[in-house]
Amino acid sequence: MSRFPSSQSTSAMVEEPTKVVSAGGGDREGEDEQVVNPWEVTAKDGGKIDYDKLIEKFGCQRLDESFVRRVERLTGRPAHVFLRRGVFFAHRDFNEILDVYERGEKFFLYTGRGPSSEALHLGHLVPFMFTKYLQDAFKVPLVIQLTDDEKCMWKNLTVEESKRLACENVKDIIACGFDITRTFIFSDFSYVVGIFGFTNEDHIGKISFPPVQAVPSFPSSFPHLFSGKDNLRCLIPCAIDQDPYFRMTRDVAPRIGYQKPALIESSFFPALQGETGKMSASDPNSAIYVTDSSKDIKNKVNRYAFSGGQDSIENHRKYGANLEVDIPVKYLGFFLEDDAELDHIKKEYGAGRMLTGEIKKRLVEVLSELVERHRKARALVTDEVVDAFMAVRPLPLMFS
Ligand code: TRP
Repeated sequence: MSRFPSSQSTSAMVEEPTKVVSAGGGDREGEDEQVVNPWEVTAKDGGKIDYDKLIEKFGCQRLDESFVRRVERLTGRPAHVFLRRGVFFAHRDFNEILDVYERGEKFFLYTGRGPSSEALHLGHLVPFMFTKYLQDAFKVPLVIQLTDDEKCMWKNLTVEESKRLACENVKDIIACGFDITRTFIFSDFSYVVGIFGFTNEDHIGKISFPPVQAVPSFPSSFPHLFSGKDNLRCLIPCAIDQDPYFRMTRDVAPRIGYQKPALIESSFFPALQGETGKMSASDPNSAIYVTDSSKDIKNKVNRYAFSGGQDSIENHRKYGANLEVDIPVKYLGFFLEDDAELDHIKKEYGAGRMLTGEIKKRLVEVLSELVERHRKARALVTDEVVDAFMAVRPLPLMFS
């Protein structure tokens, strides 16, 4: 894999040159540095990801409280838990998107998934749950890219297997509740590869991948949706490991006469074993999947969820739990919507009045309910529904 040339841009270089977009985990400086890029997320010395450092290194901005307030004011609804609690913690030009919206103009949303596993885990749901909220709150069109070509190349899957995983994953995505009148879902093999006229006979390496992930940032990639709206701004909700792709996109956009996409970026959903990176789809015990039964969830939480509780009841009562490292509390922070209950749990558990077992029990309930709701929603997503979302069609009501 060749590296992208580093940026020649003369614009103010607040953004790191795009050289990190390389397959070799290009932002490694020394072996003990943290590495965050689309292909690898590793904390320094097996510790936690340092998000402040990431913001500084990537040159993005922190999403502070004032944004939460402004979003609530503009949308007339409470901010999503992921926004309120800082899961989405960084951005690029999100303020400009809000300015656009405040002036009564429109924007569109773009997000995606690389279909690398049969079933999604909870971490995979995070950007989609958040994007659904953004779509409902701002009433804007959304395009979702399935990068089956990406996984074909990086995970060495056959074209057929990548396409099959994309078909499975799209049902989980639709089950998150997207509005079909405002959503267009496409897979690279059928939509992008289709337009460029590549066929399965062509070597897949002909398609240089990062530009493929960049292209949906521009409205002109969707003539059936945004024709004549070349200046429509784009907002991309994603986990921060995707930032290098879009740093490159933002670097190139003005040079080819396009608007830069704006970004709203999340931290990673931690593995059950502890917060050292993002969950790995290759270790089934590190993650809870949307296909897990309540029994599986109970087992995994009880056996594997790293506890910040003390080693004996006496010590626990005396010192309380270490909430900084406690995975059940972190997970509740993502999925327990009731702020008052979450505060109560943190206070009581942190003071040693609640025990790990009680916290885990509550977490099992919350996650089982979430997964059960997802399972029911997914069962309603038939092949016809998938075809309807993926049909190349105008969306007449997308802005209303
Ligand atoms: N590369 C992403 C992944 O592996 C998928 C993706 C494509 C994406 N386009 C995106 C993610 C836009 C966020 C935003 O999952």
